Amino acid sequence: MSLWGGRFQGTSDADAWKLNASIDIDQRLAKQDVTGSIVWSQQLHKIGILNNSEYQDIHDGLIQILNEFEQLTFQIHPSDEDIHSAVERRLYEIIGKTAGKLHTGRSRNDQVSTDFRLWLLEAIPTLIHAIRQFQTQLVERAEQDIDVVMPSYTHLQRAQPVLLSHWWLSFFWPLERDIQRLTFTFKECGIMPLGSGAAAGTSFAVDRHELADQLGFIGISQNSMDAVSDRDFAAQFLFDSALCGIHLSKLAEQVVLFSTTEFGFFALDDAFATGSSLMPQKKNPDVFELTRGKAGNLLGLLTGLMSTLKGLPSTYDKDLQEDKQAVFQAYDILMAVLPVLSKAIPSLRIFPEKLRAAIDPSVFATDLADLLVKAGIPFREAHALVGKAVKISLESGRGIHQLTSAEWEKLIPGLEIDFSKVFSPEVSIATRCVVGGTAPQVVVEQISTARRCLQTH
Ligand code: ARG
Repeated sequence: MSLWGGRFQGTSDADAWKLNASIDIDQRLAKQDVTGSIVWSQQLHKIGILNNSEYQDIHDGLIQILNEFEQLTFQIHPSDEDIHSAVERRLYEIIGKTAGKLHTGRSRNDQVSTDFRLWLLEAIPTLIHAIRQFQTQLVERAEQDIDVVMPSYTHLQRAQPVLLSHWWLSFFWPLERDIQRLTFTFKECGIMPLGSGAAAGTSFAVDRHELADQLGFIGISQNSMDAVSDRDFAAQFLFDSALCGIHLSKLAEQVVLFSTTEFGFFALDDAFATGSSLMPQKKNPDVFELTRGKAGNLLGLLTGLMSTLKGLPSTYDKDLQEDKQAVFQAYDILMAVLPVLSKAIPSLRIFPEKLRAAIDPSVFATDLADLLVKAGIPFREAHALVGKAVKISLESGRGIHQLTSAEWEKLIPGLEIDFSKVFSPEVSIATRCVVGGTAPQVVVEQISTARRCLQTH
């Protein structure tokens, strides 16, 4: 049953119908669609479009449909164009002609955006919860690995010693920002477009504020033309998801790298690794590679919708139907990846001695320069002097810690500094005790701050 057959002659071309139909995708909005209709019919009753018995029939019919969806007994027909048509078709089957009154004053244009926003109002908190679970694992790793030292990297070159805990937490905060962004998007989704009709608003005196309250929206849209075309909330959700995917991807990339024989910092648990069909020795980090790969897909979904929105004539255009697949896919990707990472990260075996061994003496060059600064030498000069010392050590095939006091004396005459204590990861790390630094006591504070974040929402 089509919702719009009156002016048409004959039937749609079968292939064109298939292209047009969105039921395969938007049936995920079933619950939201029926709930929206229940609340809409209450308004129609209130303003006298439905008498008591008509309202009762529609209400009971919709409740039955809701149950059918919940019990997975609802039958989708090949002729159902989308979820809105399917629900109305079924209502006809259950209560007959009265079903034809339900769509009074409403268009699928305001209906679909209402359903979609309602769906996201449920999905976003679930996603935030999954991110929170993963963040919890990062904090736990940070607590557990508090005594482990490693080099930090810039340009993938050894930089300065840090605590492994500090490194773990460096992946916590981007996710915290993802949650802030998703919370903002949630608020955007809380604006109700229902009552906007097809484009110009409805001519029936429904109380939009009451509708919004009943459906759990926080506000109502102010312009019907904007309301039926606005997909900012979907684009925002895709941006939030893509950025979250990128954050997970960056961590995944490092885990892949650190689990190589070349680094040897981490070993993957067998449960989260895969083998090769050809090479018996292989243990591959597929889970982390897929996390990295799926970030690309998330980015594609965002770019796809943004390109669709660009240059659309106002108000509703059928292009907008593409929005749901993108959002559902982005949600499904993150909801598949996050729970696996939440188990895979705690299962990683770490090799503290390998991480420590990667802190070669050159990594203390900044500490040496800082020591010279504390003895009154301007930083630029100190930087150049230590640079020279690095050069000497490289040319003589020794570590910078092996330079003799005579060599230092030649570089910086008259300076009596004991450099021997500089070459300790613990000493270097302890000096970085500014808030946000890697010193143990500030990392412990950072862990408490992170734990407090976990308690919000
Ligand atoms: N299936 C459509 C969508 O998802 C519903 C809105 C259809 N509106 C219309 N004027 N044909 O966008």
